[in-house]
Amino acid sequence: MPFEPTDYLPYDFANRRHIGPSPEEMAEMYAVLGVKDLDHLIDETVPKSIRQAETLDFGKPKSERELMHEMRMVAGRNKVLVSLIGQGYHGTVTPPAIQRNIFENPAWYTAYTPYQPEISQGRLEALLNFQTMICDLTGLEVANASLLDEATACAEAMTMAQRVAKSKAKAFFVDRDCHPQNIAVVQTRAKPLGIEVIVGDPEKMEADKVFGALFQYPGTYGHVRDFTPQMEALHGADAVGIVSADPLALTLLKEPAAMGADIAVGSVQRFGVPMGYGGPHAAYMACRDAYKRAMPGRIVGVSVDAHGNRAYRLSLQTREQHIRREKATSNVCTAQALLAVMASMYAVFHGPKGLQAIAQRIHRKTVRLAKGLETAGFKVDPKAYFDTITVDVGPLQAAVMKSAVDEGINLRRVGESRVGITLDEATRPKNIEAVWRAFGIEKTDEDFTPEYRVPDEMHRRSGYLEHPIFHMNRAETEMMRYMRRLADRDLALDRAMIPLGSCTMKLNAAAEMMPVSWREFARLHPFCPKDQAEGYRVMIDDLSARLCEITGYDAMSMQPNSGAQGEYAGLLTIAAYHAANGEGHRNVCLIPTSAHGTNPASAQMVGWKVVPVKSDSNGDIDLDDFRAKAEANADNLAGCMITYPSTHGVFEETVLEVCKITHAHGGQVYIDGANLNAMVGLSRPGDLGGDVSHLNLHKTFCIPHGGGGPGMGPIGVKAHLAPHLPGDPRGESDGPGPVSAAPFGSASILPISWAYTLLMGGEGLTQATRVAILNANYVAKRLEGAYDVLYRGRNDRVAHECILDTRPFADSAGVTVDDIAKRLMDCGFHAPTMSWPVAGTLMIEPTESETKAELDRFCDAMLAIREEIRAIEDGEMDRENNPLKHAPHTMEDLVRDWDRPYSREQACFPPGAFRVDKYWPPVNRVDNVFGDRNLVCTCPPMEAYAEAAE
Ligand SMILES: Cc1ncc(COP(=O)(O)O)c(C=O)c1O
Repeated sequence: MPFEPTDYLPYDFANRRHIGPSPEEMAEMYAVLGVKDLDHLIDETVPKSIRQAETLDFGKPKSERELMHEMRMVAGRNKVLVSLIGQGYHGTVTPPAIQRNIFENPAWYTAYTPYQPEISQGRLEALLNFQTMICDLTGLEVANASLLDEATACAEAMTMAQRVAKSKAKAFFVDRDCHPQNIAVVQTRAKPLGIEVIVGDPEKMEADKVFGALFQYPGTYGHVRDFTPQMEALHGADAVGIVSADPLALTLLKEPAAMGADIAVGSVQRFGVPMGYGGPHAAYMACRDAYKRAMPGRIVGVSVDAHGNRAYRLSLQTREQHIRREKATSNVCTAQALLAVMASMYAVFHGPKGLQAIAQRIHRKTVRLAKGLETAGFKVDPKAYFDTITVDVGPLQAAVMKSAVDEGINLRRVGESRVGITLDEATRPKNIEAVWRAFGIEKTDEDFTPEYRVPDEMHRRSGYLEHPIFHMNRAETEMMRYMRRLADRDLALDRAMIPLGSCTMKLNAAAEMMPVSWREFARLHPFCPKDQAEGYRVMIDDLSARLCEITGYDAMSMQPNSGAQGEYAGLLTIAAYHAANGEGHRNVCLIPTSAHGTNPASAQMVGWKVVPVKSDSNGDIDLDDFRAKAEANADNLAGCMITYPSTHGVFEETVLEVCKITHAHGGQVYIDGANLNAMVGLSRPGDLGGDVSHLNLHKTFCIPHGGGGPGMGPIGVKAHLAPHLPGDPRGESDGPGPVSAAPFGSASILPISWAYTLLMGGEGLTQATRVAILNANYVAKRLEGAYDVLYRGRNDRVAHECILDTRPFADSAGVTVDDIAKRLMDCGFHAPTMSWPVAGTLMIEPTESETKAELDRFCDAMLAIREEIRAIEDGEMDRENNPLKHAPHTMEDLVRDWDRPYSREQACFPPGAFRVDKYWPPVNRVDNVFGDRNLVCTCPPMEAYAEAAE
């Protein structure tokens, strides 16, 4: 038989991994759209005026095997030493059951933020466990879930204190024993708001001069101090007391609430989340009940569903940025949910006894280490400590640090003559012996009697983690099943398309995810010597160069941990640039009313005044309004914040003019890069006139959403802004100051984005954009006639997403956008983005990852829903008693008495729903109002779990 060449490319080839529709499916889609091919559609859709001149060329894409090889080579350039640097980052042991069942499990990491509670009960329960754990450990009444890192949590606490304090003082006190990065990030945040930061000795704090104060517990050099007198003084002056506390230490030490603290913050990194060269990890915040409405971030609450069953949901100010905009309490959106889930499972796994045992063991090891040093004649400080000591070594500092590195251990340089040592769960006896050797002490064994180096009055007296969830049978079988049960309640990307507009829920390919778990990426301390992080440097430099190429910018900062933090960082950069040009007074920011709520919320964080700009009838920025407002504010114009393609899902041609007008009036242009998935390879924000953009790597560049974080929001800038990028938290540069605790934010998830660009190459990345546009236009076309697509660009095309108008159904059938979103759950789908940027609409973004078959399943579901609406409109179905109003339907509905005017079959198996693999929402529609009126933010009593399990 003659040899027939085949055009089959091994699966290894990137395009078939990331690109959903097969070539045959694409051909069918072209026919539906009436275009010849993809080039034709893109020419019709993306205006020539905004197209980039050069194609993206990153050389040949790598196969998965080549990728792994390259990753291994780069990872091998990181040196994994035992880091005893402390300063808020610790070695920890991730229980393998948590690593496998959560960290590396797409059911958890591909989920979206739980805005749709009925399909998010699993992660909401895990986050409620997190909040309960934080409330218990800190002794405070309300906790959120969660914040970006400890340093930003400190900064959030400062601004929160200013909001709630009765004191009218303008200054904020910061304990000089706070971790340096916490001080630095607080200073960055304070400056544009005109808050004076007084860093000093808590003993000398003048409470009447401040609206609040922040203390570190234990202090960065190990001190365990009781801040009760400071809290009393602050309360006497109507000011607010904040403690940044190590949650593991709190299992042994007097808790912040017992000292009188009003707010507690901190990091849960050491609860089983690897250091990852800086992140991602979750920070926490807890406060007194009275302050809960001023708390930033998300709070999970307990409510009821339509049948009165217990159900969880996000409560209070969940989406307040979209409502309150520049008056929002903060810009926190994406916020480390997956890492909070991991930390909560660590607590469930170990229980209070286990956590206490871990803490005691660490303390015992630290005392042993200290005694060895003291016996050898070294002066060890402080007297009362938990896990951290410093040793006076005089002129031997460099020599000791070097010997330690030779022993495979990183210590902390403290001042000119001291060395800091922080022990952790992972410290082994041989590490202690190695530290001794670094100090010239030769001993391997000694007569050691454990003792507490914590004064009696600082011991914790109250109980914690008493809820039965922290006392469940911890056999791994049970733990595994608990994690599985929770995951099964949720609808993540591993089950179905999540067509959330502006959120870009695309594939997080397995090959891209794998390196994140490698010890060479996971175990580095963010402040380890730079020569130990050579692999990270190579990767970050290359990823930055690629992102610059993709965006048309000249420099990148990898610091921001989310899109919103990127916005804040970008605006600070612009402000620093204006100040350097003697134009520091510029403080007006033009923002279209359609902008994401984080935009105005971020502008307010840098002390700017937001001037809203209208959109015209086809959704474009109203150029006349923009021009008029730019002119009216010309003297003070700091810049504008626009999103491209617009949040209305169209490629606006006016963008070039908007940039010109802004520049002509002395402003800088911030282009929100959340929609970059519609641009990569076709158009570059830097070429359009943008001066700075954030990129949501957790959207366009494949970092998973993790049920609400992690994320990475690096910013790209033009050369003139590069000198003003955020400074290093180690204090090594002179920019506007750091915005994150770690120099490269959540560095350990950067391999995901880097891998994506390596696997795709320039051509693959461009193809992904083109197919994302194809998929969106296909959905818009299929739904045409049934739903109105609100905005369209040239040739009636949409960009990578489309907005469906559901408002007419309110009158015609009494059906709301909520009803449609909930009904989609019966069909096995996560709803599209609801009521943003326009109230009463659904914004659909299918992404390139979805196959035509999945798009068709979704469209069939949407069309069937339209038919149900029509039945109501035609009077065939009751306006109140219909499948839309009762959606979602649970399995329990099937076995309940059935008196509805539609069948169980119609209720539970509408078009789109799988028969065998049907996704069953675990609760009926959740009552939002009840949840906010009866706010419960910690675990309900155990009977509730028993009821749920029945
Ligand atoms: C247009 C836009 N800007 C900014 C953000 C904020 O990004 P993040 O959630 O990473 O803070 C989002 C998030 O959905 C967005 O859609």
